[in-house]
Amino acid sequence: MDAIRRYEPNIDYNKYFFDVLSSYANKNLEVLDLGTGKDAKVISKGSLLKLCKYVAGIDINSDTIKNLQTKYKNFGNVKFTMADSTKKTSLSSASFGVITALFSPFSLKEVKRLLKPNGTFIAMFALPGDHSELRQVLPELFETKTWVTLAATNGKDLFAVFENSELKEKEIYPVFNLGFKYKWFFPNTTEVQKFYSHILDRDVPISQLKKLKQINKEIPITRKIGLVVLKKLPY
Ligand SMILES: C[S@@+](CC[C@H](N)C(=O)[O-])C[C@H]1O[C@@H](n2cnc3c(N)ncnc32)[C@H](O)[C@@H]1O
Repeated sequence: MDAIRRYEPNIDYNKYFFDVLSSYANKNLEVLDLGTGKDAKVISKGSLLKLCKYVAGIDINSDTIKNLQTKYKNFGNVKFTMADSTKKTSLSSASFGVITALFSPFSLKEVKRLLKPNGTFIAMFALPGDHSELRQVLPELFETKTWVTLAATNGKDLFAVFENSELKEKEIYPVFNLGFKYKWFFPNTTEVQKFYSHILDRDVPISQLKKLKQINKEIPITRKIGLVVLKKLPY
């Protein structure tokens, strides 16, 4: 799926997420990945099963969880559970040293409850203005709960943490945030349709995508991404 998009500038924003994550990984660490997704990308690409003591992944999609449970059945240090990461879960309080959310929804209140003292929350998410071209031609995609809308809502909340001194005194405080703004270029409408139908798990209508503007025979899509690291107080 990745080969058909050109990035401008040519940086892999995901790399920053995995660089931060790997700097925390160690053999005593328990990690929780929220909205882990079909490929459990954070867990597999971050090599967490090798590097960490224990890894938990939750997702609201029961098929995703069933498939991951089968795929990882021979690993002793991973558990996949179906759960809603925007609400209070059945997981034990203060049981994770690191919690991750890579383009997944979450509840900051629940993240605070689940983190151990000194624990770290690493989140990458879409910011308002992300996918602006797609929003113009397919507004209905943004009215339903797709990852593009969910992640943008979370982003607003998270950046607010940096400005809200009250929150800083309440157990969790910001360490750093990064903002990425760049463009994807697709060679034609068919590739746009293939790509978004795949990641959104639905048939995106090509008739509306034909309204996307072309520049020099390419279709630009604006991406606005945020990366935030928060830490829970040590007491
Ligand atoms: C854009 S995908 C990201 C998946 C994965 N983190 C990755 O980067 O490949 C968003 C994921 O969040 C899951 N999700 C959506 N709403 C959720 C919720 N309320 N609780 C838990 N997972 C949710 C979806 O099923 C999907 O797997």
